[in-house]
Amino acid sequence: MSGERVVILGALSAIAEETARLFAAEGAHLMLVARDAARLDVLAADLRLRGAAEVAVAAMDLAEAEDAQTKLSTWTQTLGGVDTVLLFYGALGDQARSESDLAAARAVLDVNFTSQALWSLAAAQAFEAQRRGSLVMVSSVAGDRGRMSNYVYGAAKGGLAILGQGIAHRLAQVGGEARAVVVKLGFVRTPMTQGFDRSGPLWADASTAAAAIHRAASAGGPVVYAPWFWRFVLLAIRLAPAAIFHKTRL
Ligand SMILES: NC(=O)c1ccc[n+]([C@@H]2O[C@H](COP(=O)([O-])OP(=O)(O)OC[C@H]3O[C@@H](n4cnc5c(N)ncnc54)[C@H](OP(=O)(O)O)[C@@H]3O)[C@@H](O)[C@H]2O)c1
Repeated sequence: MSGERVVILGALSAIAEETARLFAAEGAHLMLVARDAARLDVLAADLRLRGAAEVAVAAMDLAEAEDAQTKLSTWTQTLGGVDTVLLFYGALGDQARSESDLAAARAVLDVNFTSQALWSLAAAQAFEAQRRGSLVMVSSVAGDRGRMSNYVYGAAKGGLAILGQGIAHRLAQVGGEARAVVVKLGFVRTPMTQGFDRSGPLWADASTAAAAIHRAASAGGPVVYAPWFWRFVLLAIRLAPAAIFHKTRL
């Protein structure tokens, strides 16, 4: 949609950058929010060259979301309105460390769930009031079943997905064009997964994930798996009896 006003939270994630390029090519007005001011300026310049009508930036730690309503309202004024809010930021954390270091566990939960919940609720409130707007929450297939290798991160992502479904249900009552969608990503080659063996057919590039997220911003949901085959992979994983599942080390 040309002239769309888009707030991107976690704009320096590899998948966010690819998604922002798709919005820029459509002439969107963008507000990029992330921690690193210098990298934000570089990305903003790139997106202007790619066709964005306007690119503003705000540098902050998004885990600090207590004043999400005020911040979102300020950014909305900067853009002259808001049509779409996307949540991209996140951190895998270290599962083994989270099991004994509760401060580390809390950091994973705060960044992947608590703060995201606050940003999402602030966006939902704005969209409900204007009866229009699209909230896109990037979650993970890790949230579909607790697994020993990453269940603290998975719990946060699963909680975010439930919150997103609830917001989608709430906004569906408004009777306008307000909506929310949760995008559950499978394995994507980005800095987050550096160090993993990333070969094989289950792995996607950031540009593939970005295309699915960009589509989800205007249609589909409330829950989208990307790529699509993860819906069936996770169906099988969810249905596996504990007696069998507990024999794996997933
Ligand atoms: N890659 C995958 O396989 C995969 C799978 C499922 C879901 N996802 C989800 O996809 C989203 C995008 O991840 P990605 O793969 O693109 O990884 P990425 O390139 O590593 O991006 C993660 C981003 O989150 C930012 N971030 C972390 N904590 C932050 C905070 N407190 N405030 C502001 N920014 C913060 C990081 O910023 P800094 O550079 O400042 O640290 C980084 O830019 C995440 O929500 C992730 O959980 C990814």
